[in-house]
Amino acid sequence: MNIVHDQAGLAAYHHGVFVPTMGALHAGHAALIRHARELAAPRRKPVVVSVFVNPTQFNEKSDFDRYPRTLEADAALCRQEGADCVFAPTAEVMYPKGVDVGVPSLPAVATEPGLEDAHRPGHFAGVCQVCKRLFELVRPALSVFGEKDWQQLQVVSTMVAGLGMPLKIVGMPTVREADGLAMSSRNVRLSLEERSRATALCRAMITAGRETDPEAGERAARSVLADEGITPEYAVIREAASLGALRRLQGGYPPARILVAARVGSTRLIDNAPWPGFRPPISA
Ligand code: PAJ
Repeated sequence: MNIVHDQAGLAAYHHGVFVPTMGALHAGHAALIRHARELAAPRRKPVVVSVFVNPTQFNEKSDFDRYPRTLEADAALCRQEGADCVFAPTAEVMYPKGVDVGVPSLPAVATEPGLEDAHRPGHFAGVCQVCKRLFELVRPALSVFGEKDWQQLQVVSTMVAGLGMPLKIVGMPTVREADGLAMSSRNVRLSLEERSRATALCRAMITAGRETDPEAGERAARSVLADEGITPEYAVIREAASLGALRRLQGGYPPARILVAARVGSTRLIDNAPWPGFRPPISA
């Protein structure tokens, strides 16, 4: 496995399967890389993992500054999971003309749902900017994203389709801790007490999934969170692809998703799941 830092180093790895990350890799990322390996194997394509803490998608400079940077351990995990190349660019390689140019126009799913778009203004502009640039540099045939960041997955898929970029976006289910907490690089910031309360996000989605009416589902989710003293930024059930309001059709509801964002202490967590009927394999 090679670690490359610039465009020239990527020349041998075009047309492969690509996993973009910001590093601080955990078992969730590992599952993405393993899946990329499986997708690449039959056609002997390379697997590329990028590690770049993208400054343009952070709302708070302090969050960017204290984002964990663990390239050595990340590269070891990538090697173990069968990646061929880690692309770890500098900001100058990513943004040679500075960060204020080249933000692609945003699809509606990046501006209208009132979810991450409303609570993290500018976030999806940064995500689209960095993903577009990464796709141009890495030139993959496929790119794997986690369902953990559901709105991001929809935004990037829509952007790629809208720009007619020659690659396919593949989603992967969220990897969870044994008690249901979605794995995240930010979980290390939770105190022991917060770590235990944080399981309420997953429990809220399970409880909501037992309801058959979306409003009852949202109420049930909020009640589970309230029992742990958590007031969510949002806890909503939406149409899965557009993230617009869920409207009942003749045969029932179209594919839907429950999405939750909440601060536990000072750590902001997000999670989501299919609705209804979410039952993750957890041992809580
Ligand atoms: P990052 O948070 O490092 O996540 C990289 C990829 O791992 C994303 O596709 C994310 O959805 C996925 N992921 C994170 N936690 C996961 C989990 N528990 N289970 C499954 N997949 C998980 O998302 C980003 O970086 C950035 O926005 C990026 C796309 C790299 C652009 O900078």
